[in-house]
Amino acid sequence: MFSTRVTSDLTPNRLSAAIARLRENRVEFDDLTESNPTRVGIDYPVRLLEALARPSGLTYAPEPFGMPSARDAVVGDFRRRGMSVPRDRVVLTASTSEAYSDLFKLLCDPGDDVLVPAPSYPLFEYLAALDSVRPRPYHLEYHGAWSLDIDGLRRATTDRTRAIVVVNPNNPTGSYLKRAELDALAIHCRVHDLALIGDEVFAEYVLDAELARTTSVLSQGQALAFSLGGMSKGLGLPQLKLGWMVAAGPEELVRPALERLEIICDTYLSVATPVQAGLPALLTGGAAIRTAIRDRVTRNYRALLTAAPQYPSVDVLPAEGGWYAVIQVPAMQSEESLVLHLLEHDRVLVHPGYFFDFPREAFLVLSLLPRPEVFDRAVSRLLQRVEAAA
Ligand SMILES: Cc1ncc(COP(=O)(O)O)c(C=O)c1O
Repeated sequence: MFSTRVTSDLTPNRLSAAIARLRENRVEFDDLTESNPTRVGIDYPVRLLEALARPSGLTYAPEPFGMPSARDAVVGDFRRRGMSVPRDRVVLTASTSEAYSDLFKLLCDPGDDVLVPAPSYPLFEYLAALDSVRPRPYHLEYHGAWSLDIDGLRRATTDRTRAIVVVNPNNPTGSYLKRAELDALAIHCRVHDLALIGDEVFAEYVLDAELARTTSVLSQGQALAFSLGGMSKGLGLPQLKLGWMVAAGPEELVRPALERLEIICDTYLSVATPVQAGLPALLTGGAAIRTAIRDRVTRNYRALLTAAPQYPSVDVLPAEGGWYAVIQVPAMQSEESLVLHLLEHDRVLVHPGYFFDFPREAFLVLSLLPRPEVFDRAVSRLLQRVEAAA
């Protein structure tokens, strides 16, 4: 009866089952997978949501791409980041996930494919399947720093490929795209008629300011490109459900893309009016949240770098940006048994690397968001366990 867009295998995996068991028995554990910024003791300005109560929010005047005042606010936010984008290229969505879905509808027929990075964000598989699109991985390689395997990406391109997704900085490797990589991607897209989708939700969370980085696909002019961002990560306000995409590239590609996107967005009109009306004030008032999150992830990343050298079997991979850290540990046992052991015996929950499609074992992924006291004690138990098992 049901579509194959949603998997028919609904049995929870061993890790989800173990978490459910602990929760059922009210056993507490330190959650180093927490990626919800509203649950980690960050101070949110208490009056911030007064911006949602503007009288203009009482009138419904639907616009496929969003209210002009809200799109202007996004233009202003890009200006703050040193980028000039015209308002007519800004499209509001309810989330970045919805922006992906809009773009898959715009670019792909059922059965077409999009190239996605590996290791990376695990939701691509679901987002693509829900739009009957196939994700095809291209690899990020680690040689002391992460780089994009551009030859592999060329080989992964098929005659059904319609787009390349880059996550910049990538989740969870924390690696930013380098200028030469962006240029090579743009040329490849141009030659093969592909669009470039830049997921830039973590762009402003720089962990290593010394390193060269390119923060937006908007900084190239060859390929049709879309920069995706939003309040969920950019301001730590996922509950407000507002994201955006900005189109760039050759005018003869951008124009027809926007004409078609308008039909898609007009079909759903999914962004609520009050959040659009409040966006100018939210972007200004929310800047303090971004700063607090940046301070938190920087603090926790430094604490991890300070603690890890006492444990020779643990290697913290350098993170250039984002909200996550990756550690490499000896592959004496599978990632799954190590993660289960950590949860059941040490009461620390981390993500196994396979969750993000790392090419081999053993890697663990830690969120850098938790409260410092939780982060420090969980990291200490984690490092001791890994060292003892080595
Ligand atoms: C790389 C990346 N893109 C997009 C999202 C989802 O963003 P949104 O809440 O705007 O859908 C996430 C959430 O974790 C993410 O890690």
